[in-house]
Amino acid sequence: MNYDFKYHLSRRGFLAATAGLAVSASSSSAVASGVDERGIKIAPGQARFTGQDSPITAVWAYDGTIPGPTLRLRQGQPVRIAVENGLDEDTTVHWHGIRLPNAMDGVPGLTQPPITPGESFVYEFTPPDAGTFWYHPHADSLVQIGRGLAGPLIVEEADPVAVDRDLVWLLQDWRLTKDGQIAGGFGGAMDASMSGRVGNIVTINGAALADVGVRAGERIRLRLANAALARMMALRFEGHKPVVVAIDGQPCEPHEPEGGRLVLAPAMRIDIVLDMPGDPGSRHAVIDDFYDGLAYTLTNLAYDKAPPLRSHPLDAPLALPRNPLPAPDLANAVRQAIVLQGGMMGGGKLAGVGGMMGMGMPGMTGGAAWAINGMSMTGDGHAGMAPQFTLERGATCRLSIRNETAWWHPMHVHGFSLSLLSRNGAPVPHRQWQDTVLLAPKDVIECAFVADNPGDWMLHCHVADHQMAGLMTVFRVK
Ligand code: C2O
Ligand code: CU
Ligand code: CU
Repeated sequence: MNYDFKYHLSRRGFLAATAGLAVSASSSSAVASGVDERGIKIAPGQARFTGQDSPITAVWAYDGTIPGPTLRLRQGQPVRIAVENGLDEDTTVHWHGIRLPNAMDGVPGLTQPPITPGESFVYEFTPPDAGTFWYHPHADSLVQIGRGLAGPLIVEEADPVAVDRDLVWLLQDWRLTKDGQIAGGFGGAMDASMSGRVGNIVTINGAALADVGVRAGERIRLRLANAALARMMALRFEGHKPVVVAIDGQPCEPHEPEGGRLVLAPAMRIDIVLDMPGDPGSRHAVIDDFYDGLAYTLTNLAYDKAPPLRSHPLDAPLALPRNPLPAPDLANAVRQAIVLQGGMMGGGKLAGVGGMMGMGMPGMTGGAAWAINGMSMTGDGHAGMAPQFTLERGATCRLSIRNETAWWHPMHVHGFSLSLLSRNGAPVPHRQWQDTVLLAPKDVIECAFVADNPGDWMLHCHVADHQMAGLMTVFRVK
């Protein structure tokens, strides 16, 4: 089942060895000249979320694993990924956050024909940016992501920061029935017009973990990715001081998050550097307290009994090398404005869900509950979507997004990364670039990007129910 993955590993080993023998000084360009060949098979599978005794849950999986295999690519090295659809319905793969050619973006109808059952599609691109990304379907997204299709995609820096371990936590949120199966009722009207399908169990790399083992004194780079359909998270590492070094794959000025809380909305990634100052044998909770009154312990950092790896925290720089993003020319920018509208009145962070192990409303596939600038584009992408606005290639776009609704929305732009300028009139610090920006109710954000990549690109809320129910649009770069 994983034959392509193994093939890749040996091939990479071979390439690295060859490069090392030939020209050690320019080994990265030697490696970059080869095409990295991969394959992924999508099919129904099985998972156990809560250990060996837990019920077997029927899922849909990439290469049979939840989450899908971690794709580790090299910055600037071409990759070719053959995707085979073993489901009974159409799918595509979207490489979330990667700046790639429009035809490789994985939006059915808009950028490619859907991959029909039994068929394959070969994605080819060269990742320009190092960082933490992820991949997921862009067809029947609510159901397909909700049944498990998501995987981490890491593009390695030529010179990574010095850490003892580099870990990924891909976080998924599941709505399970009492017998441990994925609940039906996707797209119910309550979910669609309120907080979306928030589930009742959160997994880290496919398992609900009581403990994650760490060693006193070590330094970990932890790549957090929220692959939930709708669940926002705000993580606190008790007794620890995470330092944010990248958001949505893009390096920022290293900083401690406000109040020590890492706010991670669906589709967002945050890379942190975490020093382990705890005592050997101690245990520290990692708490998600985004929703008022519904805080829970995601896992615990469980220290090994071994003596600390070092007596003082590692004295190494934290800043990552920045990616080659084109600098916006704000003086000559074209202004565009997006207004988010709709949803149930009242709002708040969470409604229509009874908390952990609560059940949603029975299914009732609704129509449009949301709109962008008065227009509701529903579904996942299809042919004939008229662009909301058109940008000349090379122009700087200064985009404002205003949330007129009473709900939270992680707004995502395909194909570009956005330089965050301001939120509610206040400048955004730390030189942040993001492809997914969370707006609280009534927030207004301003951002900028250079329209250097031609094509029709999606812009949508990444709460899957909201996207399906109209919080989506398209813009064109020509
Ligand atoms: Cu990760 Cu259009 O989405
Ligand atoms: Cu995307
Ligand atoms: Cu939304």
